[in-house]
Amino acid sequence: MATATDGQRSALPDREGAGNRRRTGEWVLRAIVGAHVFVIFGQPVFAGVYLSGDYDGLRWHAAGANIVTSIGYVQLVAAIVIWVRGRVSWPFHATLALVVAETVQYLAGQDGALWLHLPLGVMTIAGLVVLFIAVWRRPLRLRPRPPRTRSKATAAPERRETGDE
Ligand code: HEM
Repeated sequence: MATATDGQRSALPDREGAGNRRRTGEWVLRAIVGAHVFVIFGQPVFAGVYLSGDYDGLRWHAAGANIVTSIGYVQLVAAIVIWVRGRVSWPFHATLALVVAETVQYLAGQDGALWLHLPLGVMTIAGLVVLFIAVWRRPLRLRPRPPRTRSKATAAPERRETGDE
């Protein structure tokens, strides 16, 4: 015979599983942002190699640009997962701003518009570093609300001894 406690018992592992999945999502986003920072740091270095006269630097910079922008889009998907599962939206909005900046950056690089490409590159890297610190320091999910305790006002009134019976 099924009892009321059976339902509660089977719900517990489900809740634990959802918590683990949420935690995995947080670590995935942190790892992606870490990889993103690592790869983008190579960009000014390769640009410097190129500007010093080694043309291979431009080839590496172009390859780095493809990797950086691809990681940006993967990060956007991970940030959407965090928003849906953890109900925290700031990583998505910050990543969206970065992805837009990187896309403009990419096009400016291809156009040779260095007046835009250089300052935007510096700003994008600075923004990504700030986001990296934020995803490691700030919680990536809302804390569950503590269960509500029934207040005295809403509790069922106790039977009073009236002496009528
Ligand atoms: C502070 C960071 C950066 C600096 C100083 C920098 C500098 C440069 C320089 C000097 C060029 C050569 C332009 C020319 O010869 O006309 C270039 C090209 C380019 N950059 Fe950057 N860049 C930076 C970051 C980035 C980032 C983050 C991306 C990607 C989102 C990117 C994408 C490109 C692309 C696609 C090109 C064209 C490559 C080609 O012509 O094959 N750059 N960049």
